[in-house]
Amino acid sequence: MKGIILAGGSGSRLYPLTLTTSKQLLPVFDKPMIYYPLSLLMQAKIKDILIICLPRDLKAYETLFGDGSSLGLNISYVVQDKPDGIAQAFVLGESFIARDSVCLVLGDNVFFGHHLESLMQESSQHEEGALVFGYEVRDPSRYGVIDFDENYKVKKVVEKPKDPPSNYAVTGLYFYDEQVASFAKQLKPSHRGELEITDLNQMYLEKDQLRVRLLDRGFAWLDTGTHDSLHKASSYVQTIQERQGVQIACIEEIAYRNGWINLAQLEVLANRVSSSDYGAYLIKFLEKSHVLCKN
Ligand code: TTP
Repeated sequence: MKGIILAGGSGSRLYPLTLTTSKQLLPVFDKPMIYYPLSLLMQAKIKDILIICLPRDLKAYETLFGDGSSLGLNISYVVQDKPDGIAQAFVLGESFIARDSVCLVLGDNVFFGHHLESLMQESSQHEEGALVFGYEVRDPSRYGVIDFDENYKVKKVVEKPKDPPSNYAVTGLYFYDEQVASFAKQLKPSHRGELEITDLNQMYLEKDQLRVRLLDRGFAWLDTGTHDSLHKASSYVQTIQERQGVQIACIEEIAYRNGWINLAQLEVLANRVSSSDYGAYLIKFLEKSHVLCKN
């Protein structure tokens, strides 16, 4: 399975922060926002990753991750000239996806939960049709909302409804089979002028190939699209990390735990950021891992 991180968009609800920089490079507490979706793909053991961003931000992403090899990854990049819709990711990523299945994660989505790793690994085994996740929110109108029948079977997904049929929003994490690019190419722009992910999901639903899994309260799905929600997401991450003494979305740690880099490579990565608390955490993790290796 391959992975795509969609990190374009205008980020207009975060102006003036995003007038000169990509939303997904802004900090969520101590690390760039994109570390969170990247860590999700890594937890699913996905190594081939495409980052889609605005032409303006390409250099910054290349500087941050290069070809991904320092993390044991294979990262490539494609630009999206303007925000023509989430489903355009599969048109832009067609040759990258080739004949594989693919996981798309939106670059501004932050997930947290103890069972996230097993959820990601299970979901990455998904090879037929589409798999999306529903999460109960107070204000579903801002999202694609799931309309269920009386047996909790999905009837349809409605994009940003004024009168939401349920409180279950579709999150920014999606798994698709190899048909996805050909389906995406058949989509017509919506009244907003975008290739809508909801329309793509509807195509799968009409073929009875859409599975929706509901995420329970053990998972947190955080929004980062406004000043207020970005600040709250940062506070959330800070609180959990301080309380539990573990890092959320520490990509270097995950790369090592996955067996994709060795201790010497981890040391290089830790030294690069050693002046920060993030770096201090990595150095401590490195020391612990050295001891474990010796024993
Ligand atoms: P949105 O939050 O819907 O849009 P945005 O990021 O442009 O923000 P705003 O509404 O404040 O202008 O996008 C969700 C995610 O998908 C975000 O990570 C950006 C990404 N995205 C793209 O990369 N390309 C697109 O064409 C769209 C619509 C979104």
